[in-house]
Amino acid sequence: MELCCTSEIPLSGSRAIKAHGHQLFVIVNEAGQPAVYVNRCPHLGVPLQWQDDRFLNKDGQYIICSTHGALFEKESGLCIHGPCRGQKLLKIPSRTEKAMVVISEEELEKTMDGLS
Ligand code: FES
Repeated sequence: MELCCTSEIPLSGSRAIKAHGHQLFVIVNEAGQPAVYVNRCPHLGVPLQWQDDRFLNKDGQYIICSTHGALFEKESGLCIHGPCRGQKLLKIPSRTEKAMVVISEEELEKTMDGLS
């Protein structure tokens, strides 16, 4: 399933995406590689962004939760600072095809089923 065009997300930027009713977000690293996560903090299960489409901290080095400031590694989703330290964001395997960020519907549903 196509989520968005890579050109819609700036390098070291992020964007909220809704897919099959699930709240996700895409980040793009400095090399232009995207990563897709479920928009849900492992601490309290709330959305992470501090403004529309803003999921990264000020210097763009980490994903940040706007509620209590937890910091997560961009590549792995591992929390390295904050109340959920050691826990991970849910990452959905993704690839780039013809300049589109693509995920598998099956992987998405499998990940979301694990939440219920
Ligand atoms: S809800 Fe995200 S750090 Fe507390």
